[in-house]
Amino acid sequence: MIRSILFVCLGNTCRSPTAEAVFRVLAEGRGLHIDSAGTSGWHDGGRSDPRASAEARQRGYDISPIRSRKVTALDFETFDLIIAMDFENLQDLRNVQPAGSKARIELFLPYAPELNRDEVPDPYFEDNFSKVFDMIETASKGLLSTL
Ligand code: 4NP
Repeated sequence: MIRSILFVCLGNTCRSPTAEAVFRVLAEGRGLHIDSAGTSGWHDGGRSDPRASAEARQRGYDISPIRSRKVTALDFETFDLIIAMDFENLQDLRNVQPAGSKARIELFLPYAPELNRDEVPDPYFEDNFSKVFDMIETASKGLLSTL
């Protein structure tokens, strides 16, 4: 039984806060604990990327209260499911997963098989926030349907 989900990307300022906000709305009323974090810690305490915030706002979601934080060892005890946006995130998470942790670590996009891709691309440099938002929304619906 999945009761808590952590969405993880590199910076925790673009993809994972978007996933957190979208999934929080979709899963409302289910009593799930939902959060997001980054593998890098580069933006610790900082706001989400203004481009991600603008895209979310346009779609009716609010990611402005989210502050970036780095994944911690405690996250592997707190969360039943940890969702990685790309293969690098997945590997970085596996590298820091404490021995004995039962958290499941998975890629996000297999929950959207219709997209035929494994990774949510990093929009930070590519500036493809709209496309990335679509992928996150589709995978969020797919993930929710499995719970
Ligand atoms: P995210 O995007 O991993 O989706 O939050 C990035 C945010 C910041 C950086 C890279 C990716 N950065 O290099 O600062």
